[in-house]
Amino acid sequence: MLYRKPLNKLRNFLQKQGFLRTGVFFTLLFSIILYSWVAFSQQPVVLTMLLAAPDSPPWKQFLIKNFEAKHPGIRINLVEGPNATNLLEDLYTSAFILGESPYDLIYMDTIWAPKFAAGNWLLPLDDRISKNELKAFSAKDVEAGRYQDKLYRIPMRSDVGMLYYREDLLKEAGFKPPETFEDLMRISQALQKKDKVKWGYVWQGRQYEGLVAMFVEVLEGSGGFWINSDTGEVGLDRPQTLKAIEFLRSTVREGVSPPGVTTYIEEDTRRMFQSGQVAFLRSWPYVWTLANQESSPIRGKFGIKTMVHAPGSTGGACLGGWGVGIAKSSRHKEEAWKAILYFTSEEAQRQFTLSESYVPSRRALFTDPEIVAKFPHFPQLLKVVDNAVLRPPVAQYAQASDILQRYLSATLSGRMTPERAMQAAASETRQLLRIGKS
Ligand code: GLC
Repeated sequence: MLYRKPLNKLRNFLQKQGFLRTGVFFTLLFSIILYSWVAFSQQPVVLTMLLAAPDSPPWKQFLIKNFEAKHPGIRINLVEGPNATNLLEDLYTSAFILGESPYDLIYMDTIWAPKFAAGNWLLPLDDRISKNELKAFSAKDVEAGRYQDKLYRIPMRSDVGMLYYREDLLKEAGFKPPETFEDLMRISQALQKKDKVKWGYVWQGRQYEGLVAMFVEVLEGSGGFWINSDTGEVGLDRPQTLKAIEFLRSTVREGVSPPGVTTYIEEDTRRMFQSGQVAFLRSWPYVWTLANQESSPIRGKFGIKTMVHAPGSTGGACLGGWGVGIAKSSRHKEEAWKAILYFTSEEAQRQFTLSESYVPSRRALFTDPEIVAKFPHFPQLLKVVDNAVLRPPVAQYAQASDILQRYLSATLSGRMTPERAMQAAASETRQLLRIGKS
């Protein structure tokens, strides 16, 4: 044996020194090995996960604590990343490309699973969860985690884009909540004229994923579409797309939206709406809790409804949301699955819904008495989730979104005409999808 020589030498030395007799020596050695083995085998398994920094409070305050209390042998190491979904995606992607991912749990937006699965970076989860168990979740959220008939992501929370409106100001001025784009413009201008608000409407206009999520809603409400993932058809150069862009451009041109809106992300728009200067906001349900906190000037003064649309079309809500998967290279797959089971459980979702007004992915929670008592709009949200518009579930999603972001941004900030921008966007997207096929 490799160690025999040095061990014998050590024993002879100790005996010569008169320190130990052979029996005592081996008992001592055995105890040291046993102790180290026990100490080593009791080291907790650490699961690492990356998420956007502003999303971390509920994880730190209760989700991780509760999970670790139930599983004392597992620890969660949370890495806080930037607050833009595409930047987070880039970080995960580079970690995967570099080889063994430092992340065990992959916290994924609705639009990432096809790309990560096509890269062979995720563990398929089908044999760990039954069809019946999956039925408890909203179907669209589950679908977003599938790629080529395999499941890679379990939805932890859903999300849908909504329209927030100042209920108090609308009532006082005798307006009903708007249904169409025209209603929204008319009410905004009337409230601005009376100096009730500085701005009518704020939305996410920066060149990033949030712009695309907001745009698919206006597009749906104009009767258009981006990519039909079944047929591969691209609808960006159709008249309906130009109409959708015209609505957004008109909000800035007519002074309803501030010129800076083309640089805003969710949190910029939420802060403006919450300060009381704005009549309407397009955002996600997380705003509800923050805008209703005690220090908020608009606490109890706003309502939430589905997005406005053109006459004859229906309002579209973009499906967002987050779910968890397991890195194929993780050395702790069983522990990672235990974490997924807990974070997507009814108990965990109830807690983070009550605390953050996040939309759950489990259907039963939309009508849960405790949740409805706090958020009376939740039963209505389930219908919105069921009818929500998916961003196209294609493996080249990140590139397709990047094309749309670039050209939309160019036309919204006046650098290109809508026609030229959308012709270019449509032809680049068609080329991308053709390459993907070949
Ligand atoms: C929200 C949504 C996510 C979307 C993102 C865009 O986090 O849940 O699906 O991609 O906003 O900014």
